[in-house]
Amino acid sequence: MKHSVCLETRELGFSYEDGLPVLHGISLTINRGDFVAVIGQNGSGKTTLAKHFNGLLRPDFGEVFLFGEQIGDKQVSELAQHVGYVFQNPDHQIFSATVREELNFGPRNLGMDKETVDRRTEAALACFELTPVADRQPAVLGFGLRRKVSIAAVYTMETPVFILDEPTAGLDLRSTTELMLLICQLNQQGHTIILITHDVRIVAEYVPRCMVMRAGEIVAYGPTREVFKQDQLLRQTQIALPQISELGKRMKSHGMRDDILTVSEFCEVYNGMQVADLQG
Ligand SMILES: Nc1ncnc2c1ncn2[C@@H]1O[C@H](COP(=O)(O)OP(=O)(O)O)[C@@H](O)[C@H]1O
Ligand SMILES: [Mg+2]
Repeated sequence: MKHSVCLETRELGFSYEDGLPVLHGISLTINRGDFVAVIGQNGSGKTTLAKHFNGLLRPDFGEVFLFGEQIGDKQVSELAQHVGYVFQNPDHQIFSATVREELNFGPRNLGMDKETVDRRTEAALACFELTPVADRQPAVLGFGLRRKVSIAAVYTMETPVFILDEPTAGLDLRSTTELMLLICQLNQQGHTIILITHDVRIVAEYVPRCMVMRAGEIVAYGPTREVFKQDQLLRQTQIALPQISELGKRMKSHGMRDDILTVSEFCEVYNGMQVADLQG
């Protein structure tokens, strides 16, 4: 049977060369098929932690396991076949002359035959609605499109695990929604997704599990609704709840639930309250 644990770290500790510890003994488990958001203030160590999942960084202490095997000194190129990593800044990732070349670089680099490379590239172009710009130079495209290119280029690798570092930063609401629906679709197809983000609204709306980091430690990890119930902890971490969750809490005495995550949930409960009022 395939290993059901996707990623595991044990007492992972890390410092950059300038010395100060950034990760303090992090132990976590992410199961195959999970969709996990990582939230936390700027500088809390989200990116640093995620870079240990594909070998971009190596722990000073502790261990990292991928599908039950210790990453140890496995090459980044080998790990890249299992873990796709979308960088926080798309411009740190894109380097090809055309969008199509950017998308087929990964599978070509893995030595796949031309037919597979072409099939995957065309599928990614269609999925991310990039076909109209396939022959354009990525650098001349707008930020939203460059972001899509950077994600599509990882998508063509068809890795079982995707890590996306702040993929919706700089996107408008419409592009954010489109992208989140795509990411959800990837998860439904069985990919394990780790999404680093600042946007608590999208976590509440789309992501079933959530990890909160503070100063290089994990201070909460579990189902998003359970994590978002811990107001005090979130406040200490300087994370504001989504506005609709706040509104729900303030309306508790009127019969609203205090663990609302989305507007549609709020409306559902609110409509029920109206009916109850009428009956009363
Ligand atoms: N390349 C680097 N060299 C030295 N320190 C770094 C480097 N990258 C990040 N840091 C430091 O490590 C800490 C965690 O950073 P990071 O993992 O980028 O946090 P986050 O992604 O949560 O914003 C911060 O204090 C940051 O200044
Ligand atoms: Mg970061």
